[in-house]
Amino acid sequence: MWMTASCVGRVVMTLLMVVTVTAADVTKPPNIIFVVADDLGWNDVGWHNPSMLTPNLNRYAAQGVILNSSYVQYFCSPSRNCFMTGYYPYHTGLQHLVIMPGQPRYVPANFTMLPALLKQAGYQTHIVGKWHLGMCNWEYTPTYRGFDSFYGYYNAYEDYYTHAANGGYDFRDDTSVFRDPSNEYFNYLLTERTVQLVEKLDTSTPLFLYLPYHLCHGPLQVPAKYENMYSDIQNSSRRIYCGMVSMMDESFGNITQALDSRGLLDNTLLVFTTDNGGPVQYGANNWPLRGGKGTFWEGGTRGVAFVWSKNLLSRTGYTNNEMMHAVDWYPTILHMAGLQPGSSIDGVNQWDMLSNNGPSQRDEFVYNIDTIPNSTAIRYKDYKLLTGNPGQFNDWYPVPQSVSSANLTSTDTQGRVEWKPQLYNIRNDPEERHDLAESDHQTLQMMLGRLQDWIKSGVTPQNAQVDPRGDPKRWGGVWTPGWC
Ligand SMILES: *[C@@H]1O[C@H](CO)[C@@H](O)[C@H](O)[C@H]1NC(C)=O
Ligand SMILES: *[C@@H]1O[C@H](CO)[C@@H](O)[C@H](O)[C@H]1NC(C)=O
Ligand SMILES: *[C@@H]1O[C@H](CO)[C@@H](O)[C@H](O)[C@H]1NC(C)=O
Ligand SMILES: *[C@@H]1O[C@H](CO)[C@@H](O)[C@H](O)[C@H]1NC(C)=O
Ligand SMILES: *[C@@H]1O[C@H](CO)[C@@H](O)[C@H](O)[C@H]1NC(C)=O
Ligand SMILES: *[C@@H]1O[C@H](CO)[C@@H](O)[C@H](O)[C@H]1NC(C)=O
Repeated sequence: MWMTASCVGRVVMTLLMVVTVTAADVTKPPNIIFVVADDLGWNDVGWHNPSMLTPNLNRYAAQGVILNSSYVQYFCSPSRNCFMTGYYPYHTGLQHLVIMPGQPRYVPANFTMLPALLKQAGYQTHIVGKWHLGMCNWEYTPTYRGFDSFYGYYNAYEDYYTHAANGGYDFRDDTSVFRDPSNEYFNYLLTERTVQLVEKLDTSTPLFLYLPYHLCHGPLQVPAKYENMYSDIQNSSRRIYCGMVSMMDESFGNITQALDSRGLLDNTLLVFTTDNGGPVQYGANNWPLRGGKGTFWEGGTRGVAFVWSKNLLSRTGYTNNEMMHAVDWYPTILHMAGLQPGSSIDGVNQWDMLSNNGPSQRDEFVYNIDTIPNSTAIRYKDYKLLTGNPGQFNDWYPVPQSVSSANLTSTDTQGRVEWKPQLYNIRNDPEERHDLAESDHQTLQMMLGRLQDWIKSGVTPQNAQVDPRGDPKRWGGVWTPGWC
């Protein structure tokens, strides 16, 4: 019966959710603060690695619930796609790599994003930070997808001081170009804007604040003050990267303080998650997990995350090991807002963490299915199947201690390695060191069958190349929608 089971998806624990949500004040939907770190590695937060200086995140994580088995996508755009739509990227077309500046790629308009539904439930909706879900047409940009306000970058890999990406200026305040004559570091501007927003909010309306940081994504840039916090680290990439993590932590501290002083944390769910694993080539670290950003290994997909709430969690101050996936937030948040998204969105259901009463039956998900390189990975209970090339950087990378201590061996993208299907038991072997494909043929066949079942529902990946019509030179030097 397993063939049909994977079509149906995971079984809901709706009853448990209802019990918890009823216990909260249903007449006043909770504020939702959804914080996404960019490129934050597994070993780059204080609760996994005490040499990381993240006191604010540590405090909230310790008072909330640390999610130790929370899965995201291997790259930025696909994960953001999950947060905003509740669909796997292989169902929206964003499963192949990321949206590069100038590529006419986007979340198709018929997928209703989370803020649009929250507005129907009476929420005010704001995004401060990095979008990265399409901008070639206005209809794909944040204020056309349900956000009341937007402040930040449309693309990715912007210079933190000049706010330019791939030859174009990229900074907007709602739909207007935001000129920053000061060339101030982006995260100072982001923090200041968010604090101002919070200070003048109408607190009688429930708040959805989506805060996708550009930190700690490349380019490796940070004000000296933060880099100096790690002066003992010899490797310059690692030192700057760690400074970026600590600056994000300080920003998180400032923003949560502003929210708290306006009473906006009293009836609130705060989610913190990374978008993908850490890019080891930019000084991030996922030790002891295998691989990094851009791979389907655990180091690319098992994301740092926690939830925090004063009033909505049945139990706090512990580490939760239940599996969940980035697509689970959408139905969970809608449910908390008092909307009934139905028993299933994309075969996925509300996550039962909020009550956490019982054995989870939510035991499978898709890491990704990308039919361009024919790379796939799926999970069923403890088992993980990988087929095709899992990506670049496939080894185990210790924290770089010195300039030359770590060679980044990348067995690798260029088809130099013939990847056979691989099978791991993640519970017993979270570091993916023991391939069971040869020894456990029966499980391998079962997983290959499940994979065929998942693949059937996939859509063709978007793969449009850079379109010259979007070139900022044609738009006054600014990345501007209107060319697709
Ligand atoms: C988190 O997961 C890792 C890897 O599976 C495991 O070794 C560790 O014990 C877990 N942590 C807690 C506190 O449960
Ligand atoms: C959006 O349209 C595509 C293409 O027609 C379709 O495959 C997909 O199911 C639609 N999604 C939703 C949520 O309506
Ligand atoms: C946080 O607030 C303090 C005090 O106002 C300020 O000095 C600091 O620059 C802020 N940090 C960030 C990242 O904006
Ligand atoms: C992927 O698989 C399909 C179908 O098996 C095949 O036609 C195609 O050539 C493969 N592509 C690559 C890049 O291996
Ligand atoms: C630092 O470590 C990274 C990752 O191991 C490595 O690629 C780089 O060459 C090292 N050196 C410097 C100067 O950053
Ligand atoms: C890194 O590569 C160099 C040159 O191939 C080699 O001499 C050195 O031993 C390697 N270092 C490690 C830690 O593997």
